[in-house]
Amino acid sequence: MKNNSSNTAPIGVFDSGVGGLTVAREIMRQLPHENIVYFGDTARVPYGSKSRDNIIRFSRQIIHFLETKEVKAIVIACNTASALALETVKEETDIPVIGVIVPGARAAVQATRNGVIGVAGTEATIRSETYTKVIRKMNPQAVVIGKPCPLFVPLVEEGFAKHRITEEVIDIYLSDMRQTKIDTLILGCTHYPLLRSRIMAFFGEKVHIVNPAYETAMDLKKVLCEGGNENRSHEAASCQFYVSDAAEKFSHFANTILSYDAGAAKLVNIEEY
Ligand code: DGL
Repeated sequence: MKNNSSNTAPIGVFDSGVGGLTVAREIMRQLPHENIVYFGDTARVPYGSKSRDNIIRFSRQIIHFLETKEVKAIVIACNTASALALETVKEETDIPVIGVIVPGARAAVQATRNGVIGVAGTEATIRSETYTKVIRKMNPQAVVIGKPCPLFVPLVEEGFAKHRITEEVIDIYLSDMRQTKIDTLILGCTHYPLLRSRIMAFFGEKVHIVNPAYETAMDLKKVLCEGGNENRSHEAASCQFYVSDAAEKFSHFANTILSYDAGAAKLVNIEEY
């Protein structure tokens, strides 16, 4: 294990697949000088229906891979891996590792006026109650209402974000939550920010929508500043993409999310790490 403190070293960002690009995009926006190595575990997605043991094993392997790229910090962009694996894997490396749950929870606790917060996420994220625990640590009075919305992920990946079928699925999953007193909703899954305008329209303006990616990029900035590790080079930042399967499909999706041509993603046999 190596704590790589070179300022020009890349940031490692990983996710179960393509969804973490919403977090990578926010990092690129807020930290435009940082190089990024992105890994999407497209062979083993979805994590949202997997066991804790497997999610820890997958996260551990990806961190080993990112260590070979000499990253100076790691962002677990995946909510499910942040919920189930972060606490374990961050103890196993010298590289600072941050997840999306604490930043998302903090943004929600700051935004809520009545202390009633909704969380939409995968089955595994909601079942783990990690958001609930983290929010209650910040505000013991808070009421947290979680809802798994597993179909949102394939709908986004199939390009159905703007299709009326997605409107129906939002209605099926979230109408119970709309009857509650929530005034803040965390989009607790990488894909859900891509449904943000639909979800906002569904809840109306009285519910504040939190995308944890924004606060996560701010936390990363803080970690880099504290370690004196920000990239001060004036060269254009690069982003390399690695996946465990279906590289072409990944690149196609990446090009719909990012504002530039992501180029070809490279294949990695992640089971070797
Ligand atoms: N990236 C996952 C998350 O944010 C969603 C997709 C999956 O289930 O792997 O929870």
